[in-house]
This record gives sequence, C-alpha cells and structure tokens, in this order.
Amino acid sequence: MNWLREFEAEAERRRRREEPPWARGARLHPDVAKSVQRFQVGEAGDGANLIAKAGGGDYLAAVELFVAEEQNHARMLAELLNAAGVPTIEQHWSDTVFVRLRRALGLRLELMVLLIAEVVALRYYRALRDGTGDPLVTQVAARILADEERHVPFHCHRLRIGFAGLSKPVRAAVFGAWRVLLLGVAVTVAADHGPALHRLGVGRLVFVADVLTAFETALARIRGDEPKPKPRYVPKRARPRGLV
Ligand SMILES: [Fe+2]
Ligand SMILES: [Fe+2]
Repeated sequence: MNWLREFEAEAERRRRREEPPWARGARLHPDVAKSVQRFQVGEAGDGANLIAKAGGGDYLAAVELFVAEEQNHARMLAELLNAAGVPTIEQHWSDTVFVRLRRALGLRLELMVLLIAEVVALRYYRALRDGTGDPLVTQVAARILADEERHVPFHCHRLRIGFAGLSKPVRAAVFGAWRVLLLGVAVTVAADHGPALHRLGVGRLVFVADVLTAFETALARIRGDEPKPKPRYVPKRARPRGLV
C-alpha cells in the first residue's frame, strides 16, 4: 500500500468535492452538541506535533497530509456546530492531557497514543453518523468516518515496522499495557460523552466493547496477522447421507 499516494488521491478528491450544505442548518440535541464541541477541539490538535517526529521522505509527506485531514475534520465540525447555532470551545481537559502526553513521547509511543484516539473516533463518528437523523450531521460524520477508517491502518503500518525488532514476549507485554491504557480512555470517553451516546442510541458498555474489538483488529494488523477467511458454510442437507 502506497500511503502517500492514497493521501494525495484523497486530498485531490476533497478539492473536487462540494462542501456539505452548511446553509441548510442542523439540529443537534444539547447533549450531542456538547460532545461534538469536545471532539472538535480534539481534532484541531490531532497530529500537529507528529510532523516534527516524522523524519523525512514519503512518510513525512504522508503525515503532513494526514494532519491536514484532521484539521479538515476540525473545520467541518466547527461549521456543523455553527450550522446548529452552537459555538466552538477553546479547550477541554481531555484534549490538553492528550496533547501534553503525546508531545513528551517519541514517534512510536506517540503513534500508540494517537492510535487509541483514532480507534475511539471510529466508533464515535459511526454513532454520530447513524444516530441523529439530521442529514447534515450524517453527511459530516460519514465524511470524517471515511478518513478515520484509513487513518487506523496507516498508523498500524508504521507501528508494524516500529515493533518488528521486538521479541514476542516483549511485544506481548507492551500490547498488554497498551490495552489497559485503551480501556481507561474508552471508559473515560464513554462516561464523559455518556448522555450524547445515549441520545445517539449507543449504550456506554456497547461503546467500550466496540472500541475494544476495533483495537484488537488494529493489534492484529500490527502483528502482521492476516484476517482469517471465514469458513465456508455447507448446509447440512447438501451433505450426502449414509455414504460415510
Ligand atoms: Fe479526525
Ligand atoms: Fe484520524
């Protein structure tokens, strides 16, 4: 997979695509609006300090385009809030903690923390896309979700290279600690955004469970496990009887 080409193609698609119809306005329940405000702040800072650690060459160029996508998410969420008559907020503690933590880390650790945010975002934007019935909200959330679905394998690819030199037991220990951190973040987000998730039709436990499942899929990618093909279903009736 050539990630730079993927990101360039997506940037070109974005340039040609029409903007969502902001002028039509949007209806956001106050709980959902509050939650979107927090995600908007998070998107604005996402990835920005990654550029300094990305080295050079194709990876740096891809990371710059990745950061541009995250900033576009922040812009679209700000427009969406504006369409719903809701202001944006300056900062939220959860984001401040995340950004400070990431700034202090090297590339591999930063990507590990970032991957947690991306996996949480996957489930959140799916809930936002499916849960309001408002056409503008659905469109904006679907666009962001499509990007996040590429971001997760992009980071996994880099992390796979980053973990390649570690022995299996060390990698298993790192993955274990990483899972604990992910669980903590997922539970915190589920609690903090609980009323919004409830409005969007997703229970807190379902949210956490889905985030964990998506994270396991990401870990499998990093380990290099290919997704197992599903066993073919053979209906019982098709099996010849009495011949065995
Ligand atoms: Fe994003
Ligand atoms: Fe992302």
